[in-house]
Amino acid sequence: MNKLEKKRGQYGKSALIAALHYVIMLGIILLYMIYVDPSGWILYIPQNLNMLLFMVLCIFLLYVAVFGYYSFENFEKLASVKYMNAVYVVLELCVAISCIMGQSIHLYARPIALMGLLCLFLFSKREAIFWNFIIAIMLFIVDTYTNYEPTMDTAISSGSDLYFSLVTSVTVGLIALFIGSKTKTRFASVMLGIPVTLLLEVIIVLLRIGQTDFFSPEMLRLFGYGAIGGMSSVVFFVALLPIFEKIFNIPTTYRIRELTSSNAPLMRKLKEEASGTFNHSLVVAQISEMCAAALGEDSELARAVALYHDMGKLSRPECFTENQAGYNLHDELSPELSADIIRSHAREGYELILKHKLPKIFADVAVQHHGTLPIKYFYYKAQKMTDGVVKIEDFSYPGPKPDSKLAAIVMIADASEAASRAITNRSVENVEKIVREIIEERLDLGQFTDCDITIKDLDTIKKTIVSSLTGVYHHRVKYPAIKFGREDRIEKGNNL
Ligand SMILES: [Fe+2]
Ligand SMILES: [Fe+2]
Repeated sequence: MNKLEKKRGQYGKSALIAALHYVIMLGIILLYMIYVDPSGWILYIPQNLNMLLFMVLCIFLLYVAVFGYYSFENFEKLASVKYMNAVYVVLELCVAISCIMGQSIHLYARPIALMGLLCLFLFSKREAIFWNFIIAIMLFIVDTYTNYEPTMDTAISSGSDLYFSLVTSVTVGLIALFIGSKTKTRFASVMLGIPVTLLLEVIIVLLRIGQTDFFSPEMLRLFGYGAIGGMSSVVFFVALLPIFEKIFNIPTTYRIRELTSSNAPLMRKLKEEASGTFNHSLVVAQISEMCAAALGEDSELARAVALYHDMGKLSRPECFTENQAGYNLHDELSPELSADIIRSHAREGYELILKHKLPKIFADVAVQHHGTLPIKYFYYKAQKMTDGVVKIEDFSYPGPKPDSKLAAIVMIADASEAASRAITNRSVENVEKIVREIIEERLDLGQFTDCDITIKDLDTIKKTIVSSLTGVYHHRVKYPAIKFGREDRIEKGNNL
């Protein structure tokens, strides 16, 4: 199957998922109409058929807009069944919760920042902004064309209430997600409820001024509804985020921070059982983070996947140079067996990561970080022993090759760290030469054919790695070999 046919197939699959979720959304709206008027909805539908058909068309157009957005902005995400299912399920749940709260309490009590916040942490800021607009318009359409009943004691008119809902959904949702993008911990995200509520109250005052007496019980009631709207956004967000993280295995900022902590189970195991690999992974993570930032990729995710890239070495840590203290067991093994042990760490890392239910991208990077490269050391050793009668495939990693920029970054960072650790002259020129050769060798061996990395990206990676590695292994002045006695320290006032 060529690339064009593959892309067509992915479009077809994505369109099918969008159509399925469109039907689910219409089902949710029907259930909402039954909830609003359990006895009269059957009559409402034939009496308002034109209006309802218009609503069905409007929602269809929104789904077309969503499809277009992902087609042009991020086709990789559109092609992922799991990702798009997660996106649509988040939308469906937010619409259902908003409809029920709007009808059972008040329009102002809807968790209007919920969709923006969930999308911000589960997907990306860009998508969160887009989805915030989509849900605001969708709720406006649903309210306008269904049998929505305004709470008459507080409504000026059903029309102005609906416009109020549209305006606040867009503004409060946007501001909440901008503030939310600065939060670093789950506790800080809980505190988001305060600014969201305050903002909602200010908007209520501004829109109601001149129409409702500020000190009237009605205004107090509206403030109460606003407080429910603001706080429920955060309560639902905090309750739903871990569920979505778990079900769809999404590496959110919080999840990434938990997984990169040295107390995360696999990280602790690596530190205790393969300290050499642990130290190597720390440096690779630091380099990868800087490279991702330079390319505008997710630097925290790059750091995390790099920390886990060599987890497969946990099954036999003593077989890898960085964990050996003098004795090298490969001296007693055939080159074929040694190559088998070494290359198995990529696949074993993939399996171990999936077994621990970590995000799939962690496993993908682990299995791809050596691509289909040959294990040169044992290939040359075998050549020497057999007078050159060996197949390079028998000494190569099975792949797959990196299929994302992050995997390509980790591949280059990994080899660069290992190579620069082995040299004594770590001048900028020397490190630059080594990193250039590593990139050129991988280009020659076609290791980047499955990912959309450009020559310009590779040049940026090279420069970033050189500056990073020369910083990590910077030149230190030699300390004089003079030993100070206890008396010297006392004389000098312990100022050593
Ligand atoms: Fe490795
Ligand atoms: Fe490595």
